[in-house]
Amino acid sequence: MKVVILNDAAEVAKYGAEIFVKQINKKPDSVLGLATGSTPVAMYQELIAANKEGRVSFRQVSSFNLDEYLGLPGDHPQSYRYFMNDKLFNHVDIEKFRTNVPPGDANNPIEACLEYERMIEKAGGIDVQLLGIGRNGHIGFNEPSSSLQSRTRVKTLTKETVEDNARFFEEGEFQPQLSITMGIGTILEAKKVVLLATGEGKADAVKQTVEGPLSAACPASALQFHQDVVVIIDEAAASKLDDPDFYKYIETENRRLEKHLGL
Ligand code: GLP
Repeated sequence: MKVVILNDAAEVAKYGAEIFVKQINKKPDSVLGLATGSTPVAMYQELIAANKEGRVSFRQVSSFNLDEYLGLPGDHPQSYRYFMNDKLFNHVDIEKFRTNVPPGDANNPIEACLEYERMIEKAGGIDVQLLGIGRNGHIGFNEPSSSLQSRTRVKTLTKETVEDNARFFEEGEFQPQLSITMGIGTILEAKKVVLLATGEGKADAVKQTVEGPLSAACPASALQFHQDVVVIIDEAAASKLDDPDFYKYIETENRRLEKHLGL
């Protein structure tokens, strides 16, 4: 796992965005795996700026989001489909019909999950999957105890996750406690995975992900099995790692090598 430790959230957003810009410029019809939550918002702003400056075009890009609340239609302001339109899709030249978010209002959610898997496969699989991380180590809505080989399915949210996400809902507003989420097995099939985490609240989850045992108790630790993962974090999120200097040293050496090879 490659761990990149940067000074602050703004640098994390820039670094993450550059990976996506490079990917899309290399393969204009890239299939992106996208994420919600507050962490990726700054990265989406960087992508919007890059699109406006003509440094990247999303015209041929397609996308699959990780998850959606079950019980919310896509036009509901708290739905993740609404979030994605609002934070990214409405501001770049992506074709909306090529953007996919699990259907929170599906009549048959179980069938909808199977169909989502089929759609990802039909698109040729995900080239780069973006992830945030929950304080309990969840990725997508794969809460602790999720099977490390799980596929897209209906998942019940933990109390902690419901509480963490309550800040987005008005008082008294219906807040779903069920979701549709890509599984950990689905995520592990992406060709590349980019995980962003910022702030001290994520420090424990980051430590478990990078240095902890491979365990369903921290779903993100399953990424230790993936051959191309980059974990991009700020100093605060890195604060509980055993040896942050080692990761910084590796990153400096990588840069030196890339420069030497003219990459
Ligand atoms: C939600 C999403 C996750 C996200 C997590 C952390 O539960 N389903 O994909 O990573 O929140 O969100 P934040 O970035 O706001 O801390």
